Amino acid sequence: MEKKIRAGVIGATGYVGQRFISLLENHPWFECVAVCASPKSAGKTYEEACGDRWKIDAPMPEYVKKMIVYSSDDIENFCEQVDFTFCAVDMKKDEIRALEERIAKTETPVVSNNSAHRWTEDVPMIIPEINADHAELIEAQRKRLGTKRGFIAVKPNCSIQSYVPALTPFLKNGIKQISVCTYQAISGAGKTFKDWPEMVGNLIPYIGGEEEKSEKEPLKVWGQFAGDHIELAKNPVISAQCYRVAVQEGHTAAVSVSFENKPSMDEMIKAWKEYEGEAQRLELPSAPKHFLQYIEDDNRPQPALDAYYENGMGVSVARLREDNIFDYKFTCLSHNTLRGAAGGGMLTAELLAKKGYIAPKA
Ligand SMILES: NC(=O)c1ccc[n+]([C@@H]2O[C@H](COP(=O)([O-])OP(=O)(O)OC[C@H]3O[C@@H](n4cnc5c(N)ncnc54)[C@H](OP(=O)(O)O)[C@@H]3O)[C@@H](O)[C@H]2O)c1
Repeated sequence: MEKKIRAGVIGATGYVGQRFISLLENHPWFECVAVCASPKSAGKTYEEACGDRWKIDAPMPEYVKKMIVYSSDDIENFCEQVDFTFCAVDMKKDEIRALEERIAKTETPVVSNNSAHRWTEDVPMIIPEINADHAELIEAQRKRLGTKRGFIAVKPNCSIQSYVPALTPFLKNGIKQISVCTYQAISGAGKTFKDWPEMVGNLIPYIGGEEEKSEKEPLKVWGQFAGDHIELAKNPVISAQCYRVAVQEGHTAAVSVSFENKPSMDEMIKAWKEYEGEAQRLELPSAPKHFLQYIEDDNRPQPALDAYYENGMGVSVARLREDNIFDYKFTCLSHNTLRGAAGGGMLTAELLAKKGYIAPKA
């Protein structure tokens, strides 16, 4: 890219927002030029607004410390500063839907981490390695919104980003049924053990709304582009259980699966090792070289050892074995605030920039 594209981050002070701030430091295509949060952070420097809430392992980048935080109430002024924006906010869904449409209507593309627009028919829900072609929905959405540049694109829930990648190479085998149990890190709730001491040594067998998202969102990701909407995949049937566990980073999924045409274990391992998608073919800056790795060790994957595989953008799979009820069972792991949140959003923005949907305004 000759000229860097000006990026903004809304919800910049939050856990996912902080990841975006960190990933934007020295990004080859994007430059973060403006940050936005709730009215209570507005007018403060980013450093003041974060206070002692900087939660991620890397230090706060220098470039952002003195930036003055915009309020979401002043979104039009924020949008004037940027060519496109990321959005990851803790607000009511109807408020997020309204905010993101308001942004798109200023001709500012929004790459959103929020769930509010995931089921809006003409909003693409993208994992660049799996359904990059869904970006074509943007044309229909722009017609509805009456925009030339502005649109909303979303990424799916973090819970599905460990098992959906691992199952995608076998769609051609006709996946019939999936039973999945996810073991989700506390950063998925925007928390550390310091803010959530009750989670030390604990497990909570409930995450509001998560099981429904885990069962339904894969059907949109695996669906077919149909002009102005995505024809949802009719199969497989998915049953999900989602647990919060005492892990800081990394969502694990224990998967059982049955097929119309059962592949051999060797075929499955080969397919995982060789899988690549549009993100790898286009050599996007944040794309992992290897999207999926298969680990032979029965004690893996472990969040502490494997969450940061390929800078947190790759998915680790292990423990493939026969199942007494389904055909096979195996375990997968992905980094929830990188691949499952800000990293996935960054990769989607790179894909959309490469395809020309995101570009400098002038
Ligand atoms: N954490 C994950 O792994 C993960 C994964 C996928 C998706 N998500 C989604 O990403 C979003 C953010 O999650 P998070 O974990 O980063 O939450 P978080 O740490 O609680 O951060 C929330 C952010 O939203 C901002 N905010 C609150 N009210 C606002 C308003 N009225 N206008 C503008 N900004 C406002 C906060 O700003 P102040 O500091 O000013 O309050 C803060 O920057 C949520 O929709 C979540 O579901 C999270």
